[in-house]
Amino acid sequence: MKVRVKVPATSANLGPGFDVAGLAVTLYNTFVFELIDEGIEITGCPKQFCNEENMTYQAFVEGAKQCGLKFNGLRIECKGEVPYTRGLGSSSTCIVAGIVGAYAFKDKYNDRQEILELATQIEGHPDNVAPAIFGGLTVSVMAEDHVTTLNIPVKHDYRFVAFIPPFSLSTAKSRSVLPQAIPRADAITNVSHLALMVASLINGYDEGLKLGFKDRLHQPYRGGLIEGYHEIMKVLEKDDCVLGAYLSGAGPTIMAVIKAEDTKGVVRLKDELGDLIKDWKVEKLELDMRGYTCDYE
Ligand code: HSE
Repeated sequence: MKVRVKVPATSANLGPGFDVAGLAVTLYNTFVFELIDEGIEITGCPKQFCNEENMTYQAFVEGAKQCGLKFNGLRIECKGEVPYTRGLGSSSTCIVAGIVGAYAFKDKYNDRQEILELATQIEGHPDNVAPAIFGGLTVSVMAEDHVTTLNIPVKHDYRFVAFIPPFSLSTAKSRSVLPQAIPRADAITNVSHLALMVASLINGYDEGLKLGFKDRLHQPYRGGLIEGYHEIMKVLEKDDCVLGAYLSGAGPTIMAVIKAEDTKGVVRLKDELGDLIKDWKVEKLELDMRGYTCDYE
């Protein structure tokens, strides 16, 4: 028996919701798991990851411990669309897939809350793994080793335009530039922006999004790590049809939110940004509403 797990890419933080908010998008990594007599066989990813250090394998081991699965050997086939170290949750796809894969061999792949708790422990924060598990746009709170995740019912239909640079930025490096403390005024601004963004999404108040997606907690510090960041954000800010723009996860991908009916949005934005995004990939994505899926082959 083989277990096939498909996990969506995610875009975390959404500006002011650092380590709290995230959304799943229509770009996927797929993993096929098979129990074998012995050893580890991993295909479909760079050679340096085809060993015991592989994140999906390690998550499978943790998942197996948690759900009581005994196994001697494991084969994993990976097939990916989600770019690596670009701020689109590729590591979360590996962690979630590994746990779900192990749970599936115990017929428990739909134990989403338990899977969320373990995935958050492994990742360290819930904002990517939560939407990868539940789909849609989520907010999560970690308290006393327990994670509470809720979906935000988004009233309007949006598209998420991901500007993906040709260079990578590790989460560790991107977190290393963040200060230990921030001014109270910045904290208040961020709380108000997150509240405005969430309330605007629920109520369909598009006018609240441009301000709501603005951040003072991490983006000002991280922007300097990304060539062209400030100039690109300035162009996106000026475009009246861009409802909001933010650094996706730890970066370096920059995300612009537009309305579904803005069908020429991508062409227009590419034109406005010109050489600033030379060699960058641009993907127009939708919200994924399901989170991971799992089936048996
Ligand atoms: N909230 C995380 C960060 C997401 O911004 O560092 C990336 O893992």
